[in-house]
Amino acid sequence: MSIESPADRIIIFDTTLRDGEQSPGATLNVQEKLAIAHQLALLGVDVIEAGFAVASPGDFQAVKSIAEQVGKPDGPIICSLARAMRQDIQAAAEALKPAAHPRIHTMISTSDIHLKYQLNKSRSEVLAIAASMIAYAKSFVDDVEFSPMDASRTEPEFLYQVLEIAIANGATTINIPDTVGYCTPKEMGNLIQGIRANVPNIDQVILSVHTQNDLGLATANALAAIEHGVRQVECTINGIGERAGNAALEEIVMALQVRKPFFNPFFGRAADAEAPLTNIKTQEIYKTSALVSQLTGMLIQPNKAIVGANAFAHESGIHQDGIIKHRQTYEIMEAASIGLPENRIVLGKHSGRNAFRTRLKELGFELNEADLNKAFNRFKEVADKKKEMSDWDLEAIVRDQTQIQVESGFQIEHIQVICGDCTCPTATITIVTPDGKILTDATVGTGPVDAVYQVINRLVQIPNQLMEFSVQSVTAGIDALGTVTVRVGHEERIFSGQASDTDIVVAAAYAYMNALNRLYRYLEIQRPPADSVLMPT
Ligand code: KIV
Repeated sequence: MSIESPADRIIIFDTTLRDGEQSPGATLNVQEKLAIAHQLALLGVDVIEAGFAVASPGDFQAVKSIAEQVGKPDGPIICSLARAMRQDIQAAAEALKPAAHPRIHTMISTSDIHLKYQLNKSRSEVLAIAASMIAYAKSFVDDVEFSPMDASRTEPEFLYQVLEIAIANGATTINIPDTVGYCTPKEMGNLIQGIRANVPNIDQVILSVHTQNDLGLATANALAAIEHGVRQVECTINGIGERAGNAALEEIVMALQVRKPFFNPFFGRAADAEAPLTNIKTQEIYKTSALVSQLTGMLIQPNKAIVGANAFAHESGIHQDGIIKHRQTYEIMEAASIGLPENRIVLGKHSGRNAFRTRLKELGFELNEADLNKAFNRFKEVADKKKEMSDWDLEAIVRDQTQIQVESGFQIEHIQVICGDCTCPTATITIVTPDGKILTDATVGTGPVDAVYQVINRLVQIPNQLMEFSVQSVTAGIDALGTVTVRVGHEERIFSGQASDTDIVVAAAYAYMNALNRLYRYLEIQRPPADSVLMPT
């Protein structure tokens, strides 16, 4: 990928795998990060911030694997975050080596409050560190991004000074973070205007913003920055991220598409110019959003702009009447523009493998033989219970069957649950353990899901705390598939699992097992090998 004439369009810098993964409980393993990175490349993002290489061996491996497998010559720029410290920059450079287009993103705080309470450094010390660490990053890669953390609360004159020095030492992108989500759109516009007017070498770099959503203004701030000449925005899928999250990629991209005549003049174009303002393939938005939600376990609120379940639903009679008469009375964009499948009935229990494969292809799923077989078998099982299978059902099945399972986990063999208003909810479950043992147990609970979870806990014996349990219906109708999402806590970490079934108690069991398997895998990785010997010191 090359960013030929950046002034002509917006560079989409996706930080789902770095800032997004900082959402409490959104921990992803390397395979999951890779799956998201591949999808981000299909979506057409320009830059993937793949992680923070120095943070942990898992982060390092994720950045490296993404650099190897997604960072191809015609692929996106792959980036790693690095504090302005030698060991961070070395780790980022090492992990990024396989990428065709590597970028090191280095940062240091610049606001007085951060300098005093967090860094305990003077302004001149920060200036010297920024200069030397940018130059150090530049000794590894040509493409260096610099972020003055908490820029929006930094004294402007000092900010201008830092930026001038950063550019003089080799930064190619200058990113302005509203780290605590404090700015209003007007203030953001003024901040960018001030930087452009007072940093003499600013025209040598691409100007970027990173807007947090603490006051719900992240997207508005990013768009205000664009109006004032910013040409890169940092954003995440579904707006996930630290605290209240980041600007949502899908909101920025669709705002720039739907309101192109409004934004075109800020790019020096005629209002009716047709060329898109980003390189994003908007038809991939829905699929990317669903994948991120599934793998992070972060559900999307129904009224979330663009990708929420209700974003294209019209409930009120007046609106429905208008839509029937002329869609544009109440609809500013088409569901198809983000790749949202229409709820068309396509397949049933007599449908064959070929029809199944063909429809999946039409929906954008290219499965390998093994995944196709798993998905087809599951499709037949569900189609036996559910007469009509919609695109939504097919998607839920594919996601369930192809979700990244841990290689060595517990498998559920059978579940039997008895419940009702005059009986004690009782669950009997048989599982296969990672070393092949078949175990069965039964217990009663306050309800069927409680009974199931108690039995699973007795069988699996991994301490955990159930933190979140939710059920969403995939389609309307009494025979709908239900998707259960659970999040379980273990010490400081949170693991999520998801599963769909026409029986929500069964879905609940599989979702819980999926989450526990991720926890199990994590504990396995932490555990020293059995034959390791502690050397006396
Ligand atoms: O919020 C922030 O300031 C950041 C920077 C590293 C860009 O995440």
